[in-house]
Amino acid sequence: MPPFPYHRLRRRPDVESPELQAWDATDVLLVDRALALAPSQAPDGTKIAVIGDAYGAISLALTDAGYAGIRVHQDLATGRRALARNAQELSLEGFRSHELDESLLAGARLVLVQLPKSLAELEEIADAVARWAAGDVVVVAGGRVKHMTLAQNDVLERFFSQVQAERAERKSRLIVASGPRPVPPETPFPVSTQHDGFTLVAHGGVFAGARLDIGTRVLLEVLGLDGSQLLKNRQAAGESGAGGADGADSGGVVRTDPGADLVVDLGCGSGALAVAYALAHPDARVVATDRSAAAVASARATVAANGLTDRITVTHDDAGSELPDGCAATVLLNPPFHLGTSIHTAAATRLFEAAARLLRPGGELWTVYNSSLAYKSTLTRIVGPTEQVHRTPKFTVTRSVRR
Ligand SMILES: C[S@@+](CC[C@H](N)C(=O)[O-])C[C@H]1O[C@@H](n2cnc3c(N)ncnc32)[C@H](O)[C@@H]1O
Repeated sequence: MPPFPYHRLRRRPDVESPELQAWDATDVLLVDRALALAPSQAPDGTKIAVIGDAYGAISLALTDAGYAGIRVHQDLATGRRALARNAQELSLEGFRSHELDESLLAGARLVLVQLPKSLAELEEIADAVARWAAGDVVVVAGGRVKHMTLAQNDVLERFFSQVQAERAERKSRLIVASGPRPVPPETPFPVSTQHDGFTLVAHGGVFAGARLDIGTRVLLEVLGLDGSQLLKNRQAAGESGAGGADGADSGGVVRTDPGADLVVDLGCGSGALAVAYALAHPDARVVATDRSAAAVASARATVAANGLTDRITVTHDDAGSELPDGCAATVLLNPPFHLGTSIHTAAATRLFEAAARLLRPGGELWTVYNSSLAYKSTLTRIVGPTEQVHRTPKFTVTRSVRR
């Protein structure tokens, strides 16, 4: 049988560039090990689950090798779309996509994991496998050596009685785990934290967990949406009998267009910006959207915890692609500045372009970013006239008006 054509895989709709490819040496190691183990451990593809298959390399290579019915979980909407398009290009079918839940893992005897960046995300995955996979499951987890830490072994050892790290090959390493330990009835995630004025709920894979990121906090302060301000607004609303604060003259909340219909929290993470905005603006309708399934599950739980399900909709999407052009009066954005593990501004630029598309003329994009990044001219070019509203050595907040 000819070798699997990894080089034909693409990342689109995710950012593509010559130094970014759609598979890595860890995918190849995981596939080779799975092909060696599967004949005895999981001769039927329905007993194989894949977690963290970035653009589908693992699921497609195993499907191509004749394993039908593989179950796959990918966190990113972009990865899910890339897998679907790669499968179509290669005329491969027969695998099934799942969320990180019982349906992904029930009865699985071979689980392949691309190790995630955060330990909390690994903990949520390890718990899910120990909880739902077959008792004789073998987990093969792999990563690039430069991104691996001993703490990852420690997490796996909490959930499996045998954990064996192997020698590095092609700068990647596999860890093999088996013997799932008993898990408590409650899953370790989501976790929730009380902040001044609102509650944040987080799954393992979400940016900043249930903490309020410092950049997010700076943007909330500039907009008058930070906890202390929210509490003041609520008190003022209670005293005056008003429905809530809206405007710098009514509690310090930055005024948005009174005719405004939609506010978009673009790349919402756990939903802090969306929830703080909706609490301060009782008439606002908000869409919170993120490409990460962990973020979406977290934001939905955050919205529910703050009693805002009637006014905030959370969507799993790539750069708000399912929202119509010109639908938003305001976009709130704390963009990513790391793409995977390589620093790349293309991910932020992609969200600036999305904001420009979503805003109606005259609508406003509020962005917070690391002061070392020179985004003001990019924002001016892509969105419209941009002013620096606040700057510290660490963070800059800008307001761009859609031209
Ligand atoms: C720096 S975090 C900010 C999260 C949240 N807004 C906050 O302030 O805590 C950036 C978020 O953007 C999301 N993101 C990155 N690229 C995206 C894209 N193309 N479409 C949607 N979300 C994206 C990431 O998943 C991440 O949750």
